[in-house]
Amino acid sequence: MPNFSLPDEVFLRAAEQFPTPFHLYDEQGIRNRARALNKAFSWCGDFREYFAVKALPNPAVLRILKEEGCGLDCSSATELTLAEACGFSGEEIILSANAMPPEEFSQARALGAYVNLDDISDIETLRTHGGIPECICLRYNPGGQFSIGNMIMGNPGEAKYGFTLSQLKEGLSVLKELGIKAFGLHAFLSSNTRDEGYYPALAETLMSLGKELAAEKGLRFAFADLSGGIGIPYRPEDPEPDVAAIGEGVRRVYEKLFPQGGVGIKTELGRWMTGPVGWLVTRVVHEKKIYRDYIGTDASAVNLMRPAMYGAYHHITVCGKRDLPADHVYDITGSLCENNDKFAIERKLPEIRIGDLLVIHDTGAHGWAMGYNYNGRTRSAEILYTREGGYRMIRRAETAADYFATLDIDPAGEKLTGRK
Ligand code: LLP
Repeated sequence: MPNFSLPDEVFLRAAEQFPTPFHLYDEQGIRNRARALNKAFSWCGDFREYFAVKALPNPAVLRILKEEGCGLDCSSATELTLAEACGFSGEEIILSANAMPPEEFSQARALGAYVNLDDISDIETLRTHGGIPECICLRYNPGGQFSIGNMIMGNPGEAKYGFTLSQLKEGLSVLKELGIKAFGLHAFLSSNTRDEGYYPALAETLMSLGKELAAEKGLRFAFADLSGGIGIPYRPEDPEPDVAAIGEGVRRVYEKLFPQGGVGIKTELGRWMTGPVGWLVTRVVHEKKIYRDYIGTDASAVNLMRPAMYGAYHHITVCGKRDLPADHVYDITGSLCENNDKFAIERKLPEIRIGDLLVIHDTGAHGWAMGYNYNGRTRSAEILYTREGGYRMIRRAETAADYFATLDIDPAGEKLTGRK
């Protein structure tokens, strides 16, 4: 069931203060989720969540997560810079490599961040760009299909990420020669999974392999990085995964394999941490009735790409009409010249009128972050609903001047945008 923790008044009041569309994030909700996760893994003396910056790259949110004891998982130079600007340093940061410009390794090393290598060739790149640290993380791709029992969770064999097993073995030998003393193992084998068995199964895979490789190579297995992937209930009928049960499942695996402790656990959750505590708030600006009934909003896929890109379901409520019968069927659209610019297709909703405020749920992760500028549309503001019940604009909306900023269209640009 999507998160209905905020009443409609919160969105209505926000829309009186700020022009729509905007993403609204619930500060207390973010803190509650971070606390629940930390509690679920509190049995592990060396646990840390490294929030996946790509999911919600806003400094105000990152600082809240820092206060809750989280680190950051970064995927680019820009995200590393953001992490540094928000006061994260050293082991509070992990850079997950992926066909990366070499300078990004240097930047991560200069920050003292963990580096998670994606490929055997990254070893040489890191050696010449920042140098090899004492403890390094390697991303594992077991190939084939990843299943729990007879349920297929993912298809690592088709994924571009990680080292094969033989590359891991070879890589660790090379890295040992280059001076590492310890290593961590990382894998991301299933996305948006609500199965509470996923993390425990992944922990078993990484920890048993880590144990074996440590013995074989004479190195210390420092940590398992379970990465992201825990899902959220986008649909009303979806159950919410119980993070306490997930933590317990991982604990059982841990205690079986490492009864003496001494191994750390990292997670890099994005979606689970902030997805359900963010909403895209948009105003109905248009209605047309042709072969279907279309409701046009002032948001579009540039504000939330997931439905267009993946056909993803996001729950929609109409402010002030939550309890009315869903006796109309609509396609809810944006204004892009793309027929997939639809937040919902043939969705049953209460009767909608122009001027109504729609709340699109679960946009707190991979929402604003995936925005783009097609059709010259600009990205929206982000509003924090604070613990005190106030509103803080934590990112202003883009303007046409931002869109033109990378173009050389002066002097007409000056006239168009007012910018000198
Ligand atoms: N760590 C790494 C290295 C990742 O690549 C990702 C996501 C995460 C952590 C966080 O995963 P999460 O817990 O948020 O699932 N844009 C897509 C999801 C792509 C995820 C890419 N990597 C979506 O909107 O569903």
